[in-house]
Amino acid sequence: MSHFPDLPEYTGFNTPLRAELDITDCEVEGEIPSDIDGAFYRANPDPKFPPLLGKDLYFNGDGVITQFRFKDGKVDLKQRYVRTDKFRAEAAAGRALFGAYRNPFFDDPTVAGLSRGTANTNVLLHAGRMFAYKEDSHPVEIDPITLETKGNHDYGGRIKSVSFTAHAKIDPVSGDMIGFGYDAKGIATPDVAYYVIGPDGEVKHETWFQVPYSNLMHDFGVTQDYVIFLVVPVCSSLERARQGAPTFGWDASKDVFVGIMPRYGSGADLRWFRGPNCFCSHVMNAFNQGTRVYIDVPMSKSNMFPFFPDVTGKPFDREAAAGRMTRWSFDLSKPDEGWEKRQLGNMVGEFPKIDERYATLPYRHGYLCVVDPTLPFSANGGSISGLRVNKIGHVDHATGREDSYWVGEKSSLQEPCFVPRSKTSAEGDGYILVLANRYEESRSDVLLLDAQRLSEGPLAVIRLPIRLRSGLHGNWYDGDQIEAAGNR
Ligand SMILES: [Fe+2]
Repeated sequence: MSHFPDLPEYTGFNTPLRAELDITDCEVEGEIPSDIDGAFYRANPDPKFPPLLGKDLYFNGDGVITQFRFKDGKVDLKQRYVRTDKFRAEAAAGRALFGAYRNPFFDDPTVAGLSRGTANTNVLLHAGRMFAYKEDSHPVEIDPITLETKGNHDYGGRIKSVSFTAHAKIDPVSGDMIGFGYDAKGIATPDVAYYVIGPDGEVKHETWFQVPYSNLMHDFGVTQDYVIFLVVPVCSSLERARQGAPTFGWDASKDVFVGIMPRYGSGADLRWFRGPNCFCSHVMNAFNQGTRVYIDVPMSKSNMFPFFPDVTGKPFDREAAAGRMTRWSFDLSKPDEGWEKRQLGNMVGEFPKIDERYATLPYRHGYLCVVDPTLPFSANGGSISGLRVNKIGHVDHATGREDSYWVGEKSSLQEPCFVPRSKTSAEGDGYILVLANRYEESRSDVLLLDAQRLSEGPLAVIRLPIRLRSGLHGNWYDGDQIEAAGNR
């Protein structure tokens, strides 16, 4: 019989669900506007089997994709595991065969050479295909209607990097997908492969380069003319991996590097900027005005990931890990090595999102998960990341105005997703969808809020009879996109 360890990653609200679900016509409180037609897809880790080595990072669970399909004022839920190589091999064996996160040295010998990807981080639809992503491996294609797995996708052999980011950007103007793979030649290698994939699904640009030190390059920035690579010292070490220690660790002694390259440039065109040690991971958006390049990140003084321990053994510093939205601006017309930093508002948080129709462009509205420690939190449980997200925040970059919704002391929130009111509505005119974790009831709700009036609370609550584990990232796609991709 399967038995998961008695650890926070596997108990309480984080107990693996291990379920595939279909719920037609979910219970709704309030009213869902009848013209919303599309689906909110999200990815979350959910280990099918107890960990091979007795414990593992939450982020190494098998990828599950949840689809909330909105049509005619109703919502249907569908959830399926992604049949990755790992999932299939372990299902056949009836037990875990892969060891720790990003560490192949303790895997069962029978899986040597198989992809270790879990497809648990993000879901994107591009060029008529939907993919589930894990940044250590290739995208896995899934059917956007049935969520059935179609298989690993390397763009006809064009993606030679062994890895591909879970945070590729889709340019709403050109239809290009811009992505990269770090650790492109294997774990802890300094190699990065950069790709632009056209709206026809063909790789149209590729270049390779090396970073100053190998690290967790989780996200990046793309503007209309440039691409921005962040080298922040969550560093990887083969030596640690071989010893069974976490492959990634925080190194406060290292500087931060930012590499900026023309979007269709080569590695030789990459210009490196260098600044003092700090932490950031996700990117809200990036844009450029001529040779001025801007990237907005939740930035903190120190590591925000307690599961990637300090390489010197120093304990996790929760205060120093508090991130605030910060605009980094680079002037490419000057020879300076550094850049300017300007804080955008006061909310502490992470998991930034935008109206994706403005990705890579100057934009006004940003949304994020907010941690407000001044409000009470009385439920048992919480996020495994250590972030108790109790608000969804909105920041208007044009006015500086902040707005937020507090979910109450017995719940927490997951990453928000913006839904445009219509294809032609103005930027930020639409809805926010967000999962609420109801700890006391061990249940989840999906909240639908007006994106311009978060503090007024949900317009509708989709009440789920079950608990969905904490997810990572998700996106909204319109019904016509889904139908076209599903029937290709
Ligand atoms: Fe991410």
